Amino acid sequence: MAERPYIVGNWKMNGTRAMLSEARAIDRASQRYMKVEVALAPPFTLIHAVGREVEQIGVGAQDCHAEPDGAHTGDISATMALDAGAKFVILGHSERRENHDESDALIAKKMAAAFDAGLRVILCCGESAETREAGRAEEFVLGQLRASLPELTDPQQQLTVAYEPIWAIGTGKVPTAGDITAMHGAIRGVLKERYGADNAEAIRILYGGSVKADNAREILDLPDVDGALVGGASLTAENFLGIVLAAV
Ligand code: G3P
Repeated sequence: MAERPYIVGNWKMNGTRAMLSEARAIDRASQRYMKVEVALAPPFTLIHAVGREVEQIGVGAQDCHAEPDGAHTGDISATMALDAGAKFVILGHSERRENHDESDALIAKKMAAAFDAGLRVILCCGESAETREAGRAEEFVLGQLRASLPELTDPQQQLTVAYEPIWAIGTGKVPTAGDITAMHGAIRGVLKERYGADNAEAIRILYGGSVKADNAREILDLPDVDGALVGGASLTAENFLGIVLAAV
């Protein structure tokens, strides 16, 4: 695990102001575990409000547009997310790739827009069940990364990678320890090619997909796993803090 593990909650399309008390509770408890970097990515509509509630934890967005501004009804730019209080943005989540037809090329553009605006990026990658069954998981995931990782001025600060096998998201299924270790090691290899060994060691690689309080420690103890990107179990302070505790 990284020197400072990173535990990020992705609230997806969940949350109204009634959930601000969960963010507050997560923030207050996280102040006792400074060794762990904790963050939440609420929906756009809550970024500002969550930012006002919390002191310690990070707040981020779940997407941004590839353009800085313009005629894009209903979209949100990286600068707008930053202005609302986001410090990072999740890009390339499989739900965006599937539901909005996002290609690696578009994700690369969004990354550039995010970095231009001054946001950090959590770049998601991950294979489908069919791809894994066909024995092509590693080739596929490394291809996603190679197609979207940009040149960076400060890769250690700017970038986090999240490996989220699509078939493990919200299903209760988790890859074997060996499969997670092999994939994270391979991802680290691509980061080395692109940013050099020192940067690659320092860039955190998160695992995401059915992480819960009762499997978090086992996953976080694996080589090259530097934290977790958590969906369902980040929606209540009680569940999410169980995962934060596993990283302490
Ligand atoms: O981004 C987090 C995610 O996709 C994992 O979701 O609900 O399986 O923890 P979940």
